[in-house]
Amino acid sequence: MAIRNIRIEGDPILRKKSKTVEKIDERVLTLIEDMKETMYKADGVGIAAPQVGILKKIFVIDIYDGNGPFVFINPEILETKGSQEDEEGCLSIPGVQEPVKRPYYVKVKATNEKGEEFILEAEELMARAVCHENDHLYGKLFIDYVEK
Ligand code: NI
Repeated sequence: MAIRNIRIEGDPILRKKSKTVEKIDERVLTLIEDMKETMYKADGVGIAAPQVGILKKIFVIDIYDGNGPFVFINPEILETKGSQEDEEGCLSIPGVQEPVKRPYYVKVKATNEKGEEFILEAEELMARAVCHENDHLYGKLFIDYVEK
């Protein structure tokens, strides 16, 4: 495992769309382990592959509630409900925290690192994290929601 360099806002890779993972091979598994290590080292609750310079549809989340880390490969948000507003930050935008409106509930389908498909229903912080990390796969950053 290795700590990877976190790309910082202004890096064009953060604005690109990620590609679907076709095969969960050694390379992908190493990437996932490195993403976890990089996230924990940076005290983050989530990290997406583009943040370490890889345009693949993968993100990892751990909200430190004892259930994580969760690995999401090729995630697809199936449903959202309600809304919540809270301060949000991003490992790619150090030192910035701004209130962002997000759905209160999300239902997401993804594949884990064992290749098993799962459906997760999340609320509150977990829902926020899923939406935030999923945005990274489409080149979107939380500051895009903040009025200048
Ligand atoms: Ni982020």
